[in-house]
Amino acid sequence: MKQEAKFKVLPLQLFLKMNIQENFSLQQYNTFGVEAKSKYFVEANSVEELKETLKLSYSPILILGGGSNILFTKNFEGLVIKLNLKGISAQILDENHVLVTAKAGENWHNFVQFTISKNYGGLENLSLIPGNVGTCPIQNIGAYGTEIKDHFVSCKALNIETLEVEIIDLEQCKFGYRDSIFKTSAKGKYIILEVSFKLTTKNHHIKTEYGAISIELKNLGIENPSIQDVAKAVINIRQSKLPNPAEIGNAGSFFKNPTIPLAQFEKLKKQFPEIQGYPNGDFVKVPAGWLIENTGWKGKQIGNVASHKLQALVIINATGKATGKEIYDFSTLIINSVKEKYGIELEREVNIV
Ligand code: FAD
Ligand code: EPU
Repeated sequence: MKQEAKFKVLPLQLFLKMNIQENFSLQQYNTFGVEAKSKYFVEANSVEELKETLKLSYSPILILGGGSNILFTKNFEGLVIKLNLKGISAQILDENHVLVTAKAGENWHNFVQFTISKNYGGLENLSLIPGNVGTCPIQNIGAYGTEIKDHFVSCKALNIETLEVEIIDLEQCKFGYRDSIFKTSAKGKYIILEVSFKLTTKNHHIKTEYGAISIELKNLGIENPSIQDVAKAVINIRQSKLPNPAEIGNAGSFFKNPTIPLAQFEKLKKQFPEIQGYPNGDFVKVPAGWLIENTGWKGKQIGNVASHKLQALVIINATGKATGKEIYDFSTLIINSVKEKYGIELEREVNIV
């Protein structure tokens, strides 16, 4: 009897706490700072609240982390759920390794800073990437020679259809460059609740191969860098060329760096001897920033939107008044120019809604 009463009351309590808001402005919830309204909006502070929300069968739903890789081109006619699950825990695995787990709503950079403060090695090259921990597996975030797949063990995710919590391991995630099953075969199927990483407690593997890091460490006068030094160098480099979303609306790289067949690259090299590329077997990754700069877009502004003057791959809300549609249309112009001049089709990295 008691058990039944408890069961009946709990969802109601949660329901009252959940505060589903209507016609909600998302302008403060996306780093482009564009205005878009969601028909319904709710913040989920626990897995129970999340499950109860899903049981209400709103459709469509959109999960929001830090809003730093999303472009709203129109209002969202469904329920936006902002995930606020918090908490970080660590479990020593052996004398060299620790398993660190963070809930989805933890800020990514704060999490990386936490690991560095404990002298846990592995994530230092990924310092200062905006967004939340729960989003990091979606596109296998990467920077300066590291991707999360290098240290990822598994994530816990809520299956939206069954409401069961599943553990998805490294192999199942099928991580690639800015890619995972969460963008392909399992798109829209899961809500990531927490992510676990295996990090080192000593004998850290310091990665300084990415050219800019070794140059910055030299500038700082550091010869034998610690993980703390690498994080500092990465933060300095990022601050020197990437616009701070708190000041200028943006979502980082708007496009992926395209990979083209070696034969196509060699042909292009004859026509454009300056073209850059990073060979990988029979393929070459071409920096999209170079292609965009060399089609004349770097620093160029149309209306409220521009390509950033220090990093052509970053599209900015230059006046703070841009609409999502304007930004999207600007990106289409860039795609068309690059395609026309180099025959390469750029693919958007940012999630378009
Ligand atoms: P959001 O924008 O909130 O969401 C992105 C997508 O993931 C949406 O489709 C959303 O529905 C989905 N989603 C969010 N949370 C969940 C969840 N828990 N479960 C299921 N789906 C979810 N990225 C890099 O890889 N490397 C970089 O170096 C980098 N630099 C950046 C620099 C700047 C200045 C900016 C603004 C962005 C940069 N990014 C970079 C992109 C961005 O930081 C990452 O993609 C980040 O992981 C996005 O996290 P978020 O929480 O803000 O995602
Ligand atoms: N370049 C230009 N002009 C530009 C920008 C870049 O010619 O305006 C050329 C430069 O020659 C440079 C090369 O492109 O050597 C690569 O530039 P950079 O090192 O700045 O990196 P990126 O390829 O432009 C990628 C990621 C970033 C990540 C950095 C550092 C993608 C799509 N972008 O940028 O990730 O921080 O490397 O590892 O892979 C993001 O995904 O949002 C993001 C910011």
